[in-house]
Amino acid sequence: MGPFCSASLSSCFPASFPLLKLTPLFPPLRLTRLSATNQIRVSVLAQAREWIEDAQSIAVLTGAGISAESGIPTFRGPGGLWKTFRPEDLASPEAFARDPKLVWEWYLWRRERIAAAEPNPGHRALAKLEAGGRQFTLITQNVDGLHRAAGSRNIIELHGNLWRVRCVDCDFEQEYRLAPSAPLSPRCSCGGLLRPAVVWFGEPLPVAAIDRAIHAAQHCVVFLVCGTSALVYPAAALPQRALAAGARVIEVNLEETPFSQFAHLSLRGKCGELLPQIIHVPPCPEPRK
Ligand code: OAD
Repeated sequence: MGPFCSASLSSCFPASFPLLKLTPLFPPLRLTRLSATNQIRVSVLAQAREWIEDAQSIAVLTGAGISAESGIPTFRGPGGLWKTFRPEDLASPEAFARDPKLVWEWYLWRRERIAAAEPNPGHRALAKLEAGGRQFTLITQNVDGLHRAAGSRNIIELHGNLWRVRCVDCDFEQEYRLAPSAPLSPRCSCGGLLRPAVVWFGEPLPVAAIDRAIHAAQHCVVFLVCGTSALVYPAAALPQRALAAGARVIEVNLEETPFSQFAHLSLRGKCGELLPQIIHVPPCPEPRK
C-alpha cells in the first residue's frame, strides 16, 4: 500500500469510511450554558474529572475551537474562515495547480496569525494531562502547531502542519519557515513546487496518521472531543469508533454538534475554561491487575 489511505478528507460520509451506526447506551448528560443549574453543572464537571483521573489511557481529538481562544479563526462558526473564503479556491490540489501564489498568500497570512499566537489554557491543560504519565494520544485536526508549543508530545496531526512544506513532485518534506521576503512559490531542489504540508479537500489522509488515530480511539478508556464541529471525515468518525469500542466519551464545545447526542457527557463552554476544570492535576493510576 502507498503512503496514503483511501479515506479522503470530506465533509460528507464517504463510502470508503462508513458512519458507524450508534445509539446512546443511556441518555447523555448535557451541560448547557443557559439551562444547567449550578448544581448540575458542578456534578457533571465532577463526573468528567473523575473519569479522566481514573483512566489509564486517554485519547483526545481536537479541532479549531481549541485554538480559538488563542486568536486563531475557526472554519465554520461566526467569523470562520470558510465564511469568507471558499475551500475550493484555497485548500484543494486543483486550486494550487491553478494559482500557487494565491494559495501561498493565504497560507502566509495564516502563518502570520499563528506566529503571533500563544497556546491557551485549553492546550496547556491537555499537555498537563499527558505529563501525568498515563497512556495518552492527542489527535488534532489543527495545523497550527500550538499543541506542541504547549508541551504535548504524543501528537497525531491528521491534517498536517502549516509550518512544513512538501514537494509536489518528489518525496521531499521538511519544516520550512518562510522569511517574509521569500518568493511566493518556493521550489524544491528537484525543481518541483513546494506546497504547504497540509491535507486539502479531496486528498487522502496519511495512512500512518489515521491508522494510529483509529488505534488510539479504539484502545482508550476515555475519549475527549474538544472544539470540533464533528463534520469533517474521517476525523469525525473517531469519537464514534471510541464509543463503539466502549470508551467514555466527553465532548467540550461551545455549541451542540452532530456528535453531542452520542457523547456520555457533552459540556458546553470554552475549551480554555472547561478543560482546566476537568483536568485537575491527575494522579497517575496504578495499572489494574
Ligand atoms: P470548525 O470551524 O468546523 O468547528 C469549530 C468548532 O469549535 C465548532 O463546533 C465551535 O462551536 C467550536 N468552538 C469554537 N470556539 C470554541 C472554544 N473556545 N471552545 C470550545 N469550542 C469552540 O473546525 P474543525 O472541526 O476543526 O480542515 O474543522 C475540521 C476541519 O475542517 C479543519 O481541520 C479544516 C476544516 O476545513 C482543513 O482545512 C484540511
